[in-house]
Amino acid sequence: MTRLSIIFDTDPGQDDAVAILALLGARDGIDLLSLTTVAGNVGLGLTSRNARIVCEWARRPDVPVYAGCEHPLLRPLVTAEQVHGKTGLDGVPIHEPNMPLQGKHAVDFIVDTLREAAAGTITLCPVGPLTNIALALRKAPDIAARIKEIVLMGGAYFAGGNVSPAAEFNIFVDPEAAAVVLGSGVPLVMLPLDVTHQVCSSAPRIARMRALPNRCGPLAADILTSYERHDVQRFGVHGSPLHDPCVVAYLLQPALFTGRQVNVEVETASPLTRGATVVDWWGISGRPANVQYITKADADGVFALLTDCLAKLP
Ligand code: BDR
Ligand code: CA
Repeated sequence: MTRLSIIFDTDPGQDDAVAILALLGARDGIDLLSLTTVAGNVGLGLTSRNARIVCEWARRPDVPVYAGCEHPLLRPLVTAEQVHGKTGLDGVPIHEPNMPLQGKHAVDFIVDTLREAAAGTITLCPVGPLTNIALALRKAPDIAARIKEIVLMGGAYFAGGNVSPAAEFNIFVDPEAAAVVLGSGVPLVMLPLDVTHQVCSSAPRIARMRALPNRCGPLAADILTSYERHDVQRFGVHGSPLHDPCVVAYLLQPALFTGRQVNVEVETASPLTRGATVVDWWGISGRPANVQYITKADADGVFALLTDCLAKLP
């Protein structure tokens, strides 16, 4: 199997943390070049610390972590402590990581890495606001043609929004960045709320992670148990959507997902619908398709895959 080379751009965040653990357990299929961090669920200082904490849980201090943008391109930062807790990683003990942050800015790392690698060999995987990716594309437009694909978690159409009636959190926080990415011409795969809401935690699914004979399985189970509380209270559902881990599952087994090649644009002007992703599902606008928009997942398959990944960790 050829390993996919990826840069994982993240704002940990409880579901980000589970996604990173799954990634670290997926070494056979994925060559993780680095984690790049962005402000989102919590501020940049915390997302950068949390990314390193997760690497240390998995005994992978060798994974380089680069800190990126502190705030969205044009707007003040909106965070989500009400979901992920003040630390961004509610539900598990936090420590001060020993592994250092890399000296370079994440945006420069993304640009330099894409320029140095053979064109079409690196996949970008943003699971937070798209600020770092947009800034890299703005700073160095030549990289667009060198990116193999961008596989991102963000957006919503059929499911409605989770941070406003119209918008999903990652796109809402930095809609101008989303507009840059959607207009970049890079092949895009979007995993929106429409699909992540099908991949929800449940007592038996969490129990299988907790039963793993290692440290990271129970840690993931503790995070998800804490993460569920918000959704159960807020939306009256029985579990929590595993938004960001869906990206990892898609990278490893795209056959678990289905979608359609469509046009997606983002609202940046209206305060009422800021960050809404307008999906031309029926092709009525005449605008060219720019996104593989994923709407269905085999949830049992995704959970089995993620649990297998966690099983490979210490
Ligand atoms: C997205 O928002 C964040 O809170 C999660 O980490 C995920 O990336 C879901 O809307
Ligand atoms: Ca995230």
